[in-house]
Amino acid sequence: MTNANIQNPYGRQIVSLDGDWHYLIDPYETGFYNMFGEENSFGYFRNLTPEDHWASEYNFKQSPTLKVPGDWNSQEPTLLWYEGTLWYFRELPAIPDDGLRRFVRFGGANYDTIVWVNGQELVRHTGGFTPFEAEITDVVQAGTNYVVVKVNDERLKDGVPTRNTDWWNYGGLTREVLLIATPATFIRDYFCQLDADTGATISGFVQLDGEGGQTVELAIPELGVSYQISTDAAGFGEFSLSATPERWSPQNPRLYDVSFSTAADVIHDRIGFRAIATDGEDILLNGDSIFLKGISMHEEAIGHARRANSIEDARRLLAEAKALGCNFVRLAHYPHNDHMCRVADELGLLLWCEVPVYWAINWESQEVLENARAQLIEMIVRDRNRASIILWSIANETPVSDARTAFLKSLAETAKQLDPTRLTTAAMFMRPDKVEEDGEVVRTYTLDDPLADYLDVMGCNQYLGWYYTKVTDIANARWHSDKNKPLVMSEFGAGAPKGKRGGPLDRWTEDYQVTVYEAQLAMMQDIGFLRGLSPWILKDFRTPKRPLAGVQDYFNRKGLISDKGERKLAWQTLYEFYQTK
Ligand code: GCU
Repeated sequence: MTNANIQNPYGRQIVSLDGDWHYLIDPYETGFYNMFGEENSFGYFRNLTPEDHWASEYNFKQSPTLKVPGDWNSQEPTLLWYEGTLWYFRELPAIPDDGLRRFVRFGGANYDTIVWVNGQELVRHTGGFTPFEAEITDVVQAGTNYVVVKVNDERLKDGVPTRNTDWWNYGGLTREVLLIATPATFIRDYFCQLDADTGATISGFVQLDGEGGQTVELAIPELGVSYQISTDAAGFGEFSLSATPERWSPQNPRLYDVSFSTAADVIHDRIGFRAIATDGEDILLNGDSIFLKGISMHEEAIGHARRANSIEDARRLLAEAKALGCNFVRLAHYPHNDHMCRVADELGLLLWCEVPVYWAINWESQEVLENARAQLIEMIVRDRNRASIILWSIANETPVSDARTAFLKSLAETAKQLDPTRLTTAAMFMRPDKVEEDGEVVRTYTLDDPLADYLDVMGCNQYLGWYYTKVTDIANARWHSDKNKPLVMSEFGAGAPKGKRGGPLDRWTEDYQVTVYEAQLAMMQDIGFLRGLSPWILKDFRTPKRPLAGVQDYFNRKGLISDKGERKLAWQTLYEFYQTK
């Protein structure tokens, strides 16, 4: 894929564009449309101050600043609930006249973004959680260069995600912005992983950007690998070589120094080699059946209700998962930032990564499908070399219909085509029922969503003991599936603000949260095809859907730790369960 985003930007010659960016709030999009709603060539992207033009009524440099990376909501109280358009502006550092190509790369901007450099529009991007870039080589000039970015985070009926979600719609340049310099021909993309079938072959590809037909050297010094890859006229080359690396696993997160180089360019990476597969109801890591001891997580920092965006944020969140005894984390409900997956590689945490195809998406629209597919592709391309990632999730809690299943089947196929080395999944619902047995009512839960036929692993979200079914009825639950596939219980849980205590059956108390966990975990022991779980959720998180005053206060309180990072009683319940697994 010649137009894939630049692989591994942090392994290249980069300058950070993070820091203070000037901003303008523009709910009426005055800086983009004229009074008749037409795109206005005299817009804010021209960066014209009143001194530059008598009709101008803005001046970026006199305007306040926001930190980038960072959502605007947590930085400025007046922007906490703001949804709409906001403009960013900064000047670029001096660009040396060194013949190198230059790209501006955004790790993520929520939701609809347009980028101009020196008044020239360079890229439009939709989707709040995946990277995009623009080449600026031909638009930069000696002297001053500036970037203007318009970000609109309005929730849209035809959006992905759509209007209704249970997380805060953090807006803005939420992730790091980089200035990347490359030679005229450079190594744009590569993939290097253990062949799942043989387990004794490392294979993959390399994609040059620029002049094709060159040889690329793949080096893995610790394995004594120095391999010449020839590329075709379009700069594409594949490779397959015998090697028996130490296997990456949660117990042994072994990473190797890997580099691809040409005469003009070199890119270094740290890659773990492992094989992931299913066998009937088993999930096999490096050929051995594994149980995924997990937790779900939003991309929100511990101690600050804001988007997590730094390597320190990632380390803190994933260290808490490790402390809980996890070998697995579900990154919900959208691709998290670059740092999460790299830290998971280092810590030995297996990952479930997901695109925000969440609840009631417009399944009939081809445009919406292509938007979802683009986000899926950007997620897979960005992280395809991360050993930690074992599952690509294409959806969360979507209502069964033919249009929906066709939509998601198409996404599952795209994931498999792009990356046959990993497993596909989705968080689905179960079908509840009741049967009479020896005069006793037995509750049955069946995994028979038609979508499961197109996935490798079934995910199931259920809230027995919280949204439905008394906690005391969980004990005699019976789970069924004739899919002969593994199940990951991708969500279950109960809400409790830190410090709220009561009896074991008192809802909204830490004690009741323990009761639900104990009942759920006991039930899990009897589900023969269960191969993992990721309870909802590691940390209380901000959401506009939770207004219960004095209890939720616009936070979902199902965390095992509070938004400040304080552990609740149920943290220990899950910790002890994982010690037994
Ligand atoms: C849903 C959903 C989550 C939500 C959770 C809850 O299942 O997937 O995004 O936060 O339930 O209700 O707490």
